[in-house]
Amino acid sequence: MRKKLVVGNWKMNGSRAQNEGLLSGLLEEDVGGRIDVAVCPPFPYLEQVGRALAGARISLGAQNVSAFDAGAYTGEVSPSMLADLGCDWVIVGHSERRSLFGETDEVVAAKLRAALAAGLKPILCVGETLAQRECGEAEVVVGAQVASVVEALGVAAAAELVVAYEPVWAIGTGRVASPDQAQAMHRFIRGRLEAAGVAAAGVRILYGGSVSAESAPTLFAQPDIDGGLVGGASLVAAAFSEICRAAALVAA
Ligand code: 13P
Repeated sequence: MRKKLVVGNWKMNGSRAQNEGLLSGLLEEDVGGRIDVAVCPPFPYLEQVGRALAGARISLGAQNVSAFDAGAYTGEVSPSMLADLGCDWVIVGHSERRSLFGETDEVVAAKLRAALAAGLKPILCVGETLAQRECGEAEVVVGAQVASVVEALGVAAAAELVVAYEPVWAIGTGRVASPDQAQAMHRFIRGRLEAAGVAAAGVRILYGGSVSAESAPTLFAQPDIDGGLVGGASLVAAAFSEICRAAALVAA
């Protein structure tokens, strides 16, 4: 049985004062326990958030990581630094990183490898654009993203990943994938992993893209949806807590 996982991706939002308010809301709701919960603040706030979460049932993650471990890489943050700051998780290959910052499948694979070597648990993001879905290419695109990672990392390392299916057209648009659309793609991803020889039954596959307190219960009830990667709603303590509760209810 895969334990449900809900991860908040704060993206480039927050300030020390705002984070304090959000965190105290989350801690009051005490959402962890039956499910795994993590939040991923921007780099400068990792230490603040990590300190606030000490002893709580919410773990810490980052939104990006360097593929290099140390040295002359101005502006980069290494996997060992994230581990040193208390991160358990790191998001890799988010569509915003792929489309706005030119991350290729090769870069994504190198970051995943480096993160695993530092003992972090990477969350690999995959997903198709609206144009790709409309041309009937969603499975081809997502299948290729998954296959390139398995090929680069090998089946044992690939089994250590969490995969997040985030259709680009659903991110920040309020246009959430239907439970059937999401389940079909999650089943497809698990099938692809299995066919490549990865122990896919144990791999958690999260859905991301306009997840809300309203859409979460039906999404999380799908057999291959193991939780969510939540953007906008993770910035509101009540909404994020409600989403976590929806996952816990399914897990009960
Ligand atoms: P939204 O939940 O704001 O659509 O963002 C999803 C996302 O990109 C999480 O990584």
